[in-house]
Amino acid sequence: MASAASLPRLTLLVLAVSLAATASADENSTVGGQIRVNCGASASATDSDGRTWDRDAPSVGGVAAGASYEDPSLPSAVPYATARVFGSSYTYSFPVRPGRVFLRLFFYPAAYGARGAGGALFGVTAGGVALLRDFNASQTALALNVACIVREFSLNVSAGSSSLDVTFAPSSRSNASSGAGSPDDDYYAFVNGIEVVPVPADLVTKHAPTFANGGRPVPMPIRADTAFQTMYRLNVGGTAVSPGNDSGLLYRSWDEDSAYIYGAAFGVSYPKDGNVTIQYPPSVPPSVAPESVYASARSMGPSAQVNLNYNLTWILPVDAGFYYVLRFHFCEIQYPIMKPNQRAFYIYINNQTAREGMDVIARSGGIGRPVYADYLVVTAPGDDQTDLWVALYPDVKTSPEYYDAILNGLEVFKLQRYDTNSLAGPNPPLPENAAAADGNGVRPKKNSGAFVAGWAAAGCGLVAVLVGCLCAWAICKRKRKAASAAIVDLPKKPIRETPASGLHGPNETYVFSITAQK
Ligand SMILES: *[C@@H]1O[C@H](CO)[C@@H](O)[C@H](O)[C@H]1NC(C)=O
Ligand SMILES: *[C@@H]1O[C@H](CO)[C@@H](O)[C@H](O)[C@H]1NC(C)=O
Ligand SMILES: *[C@@H]1O[C@H](CO)[C@@H](O)[C@H](O)[C@H]1NC(C)=O
Ligand SMILES: *[C@@H]1O[C@H](CO)[C@@H](O)[C@H](O)[C@H]1NC(C)=O
Ligand SMILES: *[C@@H]1O[C@H](CO)[C@@H](O)[C@H](O)[C@H]1NC(C)=O
Ligand SMILES: *[C@@H]1O[C@H](CO)[C@@H](O)[C@H](O)[C@H]1NC(C)=O
Ligand SMILES: *[C@@H]1O[C@H](CO)[C@@H](O)[C@H](O)[C@H]1NC(C)=O
Ligand SMILES: *[C@@H]1O[C@H](CO)[C@@H](O)[C@H](O)[C@H]1NC(C)=O
Repeated sequence: MASAASLPRLTLLVLAVSLAATASADENSTVGGQIRVNCGASASATDSDGRTWDRDAPSVGGVAAGASYEDPSLPSAVPYATARVFGSSYTYSFPVRPGRVFLRLFFYPAAYGARGAGGALFGVTAGGVALLRDFNASQTALALNVACIVREFSLNVSAGSSSLDVTFAPSSRSNASSGAGSPDDDYYAFVNGIEVVPVPADLVTKHAPTFANGGRPVPMPIRADTAFQTMYRLNVGGTAVSPGNDSGLLYRSWDEDSAYIYGAAFGVSYPKDGNVTIQYPPSVPPSVAPESVYASARSMGPSAQVNLNYNLTWILPVDAGFYYVLRFHFCEIQYPIMKPNQRAFYIYINNQTAREGMDVIARSGGIGRPVYADYLVVTAPGDDQTDLWVALYPDVKTSPEYYDAILNGLEVFKLQRYDTNSLAGPNPPLPENAAAADGNGVRPKKNSGAFVAGWAAAGCGLVAVLVGCLCAWAICKRKRKAASAAIVDLPKKPIRETPASGLHGPNETYVFSITAQK
């Protein structure tokens, strides 16, 4: 991030046109104000999700370049086939209205012109927050075993500001944190695509998340201007949802959850009953998550005795030293569960009770009605990755009819650190025997089958790719095969009952307030 300040900042005039065209769209901000730049391209183009991408303006700095090789597992040639390559720091300035936006950065590590894929090492800053630092796209793609990487951030463009500045800055060689690199060239920065999507205000700030601190729910307000990074976005018990099938025209990617389930106990995944309709209450607008997320779920299984002997657990690698907000999406979708106290369960995060007595019907008001809950967890300090544990277990204190748990969707967001003004984490570690793989943009042969071990934001994972041995590190801990969708009889509770104690968690509808986090 050496010399950002000294370099030119240019406004993309081309984009001003699209802003003007949408400014009249009033409240329809999920449609208006979207910006997509197919970096390095000479004409506008449409991707496989139906999104139209503009070329970047001729005035943009750096060099336009085509990828030397197009990996067949790329979801779409647009925007990955071309890139902007920066030998020195460059700032894009996007015209946006104040409020929250998704900023998505698309990277396809490949050789560009004379630049080898392994020579890219750079930082990205937006709105004063470091989003990426010493980012090695080749290593990240290798470690996650994907061809391309999408990083999604949620930023609040402050009132009074009319632009979002995004700076790409090559790392300086003396400060490189990893790798010997190629001998002489300086590191460079590149980007294939940049997308800015305004986010409806109620998507982020409706509730203060609850602190996962051992079952004594405390609201943890977070600052309204906090920047987030999407780490995971899972359609639990369902199939991947591509950006074009997201709700609210927000173009999010939702991944399958089965890759992250711990051990052999997968529970069962199932779709909604045919005669159930998903009905969004006013507190959960459809932009929160598409119907396909709520219309499928994973529960523990048909046997109460089995369910009482295990935790349904997901393990999600994240960067240590950050706060995370976990958003759990729930919706009861199969008869006969339609009344309160038919199914109640614990939510554990990192072995702490985040919630006891979670009763989806009691919270949502009925079958087919979505509800979500946000929890905040603090990870131990560190520079490496750490595992986030999420587990569900029946809560039998109120003698619910079924000893079981349910989850429909899960999102994990990393929160900006205020001491360093940063969201940047380390490059994910390479699996041990990946050393032989090259950094020249030619990817090792991928086997089909298992899963994409990646952040949800690595949305290229729509094409499932895997090198079995490369991912040994990830797979050893997790089972590969997804539970097939199955409609099962719901578990009956055992004869032995605990006396009802009327224990339901306190109401979680805290009003959001703007307070310092520390
Ligand atoms: C927003 O735009 C979409 C797509 O153009 C349209 O279907 C919807 O009715 C609009 N909503 C409002 C509130 O204008
Ligand atoms: C290298 O990083 C250190 C802090 O880690 C910083 O103080 C120094 O200015 C950096 N050097 C260059 C050339 O960027
Ligand atoms: C980035 O990672 C790749 C793969 O591990 C490596 O070959 C390359 O040298 C790294 N680049 C830099 C600049 O560290
Ligand atoms: C953005 O931040 C401002 C304060 O800086 C706050 O008033 C506003 O509600 C925030 N918007 C969102 C969508 O969080
Ligand atoms: C959306 O989903 C349908 C099937 O549910 C699929 O046929 C279609 O291709 C998807 N659209 C996109 C843009 O992925
Ligand atoms: C919906 O179908 C299920 C069986 O699949 C049945 O038990 C239930 O009563 C039906 N509910 C309504 C409202 O029709
Ligand atoms: C949670 O508990 C399990 C089993 O006791 C342990 O292996 C794991 O490391 C714990 N996870 C965290 C994040 O503390
Ligand atoms: C489930 O996880 C919680 C929290 O880590 C732990 O206290 C409990 O013993 C676990 N239960 C089972 C059956 O593994």
